[in-house]
Amino acid sequence: MPDIVIAPFGGGSNFAGITFPFLRLNFEKGKNIRCISSEPTSCPKLTRGVFKYDFGDTGGMTPLLPMYTLGHDFVPAPIHAGGLRYHGAGVIVSQLLKDKLIEAVAHDNLEVFEAGVLFAKAEGIIPAPEATHGIATVIAEANKCKEEGVSRTILFNLCGHGNFDMKAYDDYFEGRIVKHELSQEQINASLARLNTPDIP
Ligand SMILES: Cc1ncc(COP(=O)(O)O)c(C=O)c1O
Repeated sequence: MPDIVIAPFGGGSNFAGITFPFLRLNFEKGKNIRCISSEPTSCPKLTRGVFKYDFGDTGGMTPLLPMYTLGHDFVPAPIHAGGLRYHGAGVIVSQLLKDKLIEAVAHDNLEVFEAGVLFAKAEGIIPAPEATHGIATVIAEANKCKEEGVSRTILFNLCGHGNFDMKAYDDYFEGRIVKHELSQEQINASLARLNTPDIP
């Protein structure tokens, strides 16, 4: 039984898949299992976005959905950020975060590749760049355990292998992956274009 469940976060599918059974135990059986999502600092909808009605697609064709979002026409910087470049978050995971029933953290590009390389060396599995976000959070939480002198069971979702992502790892080893964080001005500019109603 985990103390902490961690998953990378693009739109929320793999996060929901691995955490929801444990959240049920929190709600129904009084467990206190922390569920943490990991997103890139270059596309930080959960950690720096707003909870507002928005479209799920860039074309604005879906119904308006209550979600954490950076704005449906948000375009991430042309940097790697794994595959986690979607502007928003699924409705249910958004509500869970709003209600403080889950947690969200963000990691920059370099931090996640470092984590991915460490994992590959330790486990013999090359993780997908998406998955490396979760691994970075696992390492941070494991280090906290060390500092606090406690033992916690951490479950995480290795949501994909990186066998088709050698170019990304090559870029990392050649120094072409850069640390990137969105400025508040960039986030404000994207959100200023979001003319949808507030959630009452
Ligand atoms: C391997 C992998 N993991 C995770 C994701 C993120 O999606 P989601 O958060 O919906 O699971 C993607 C998105 O393309 C992916 O390719």
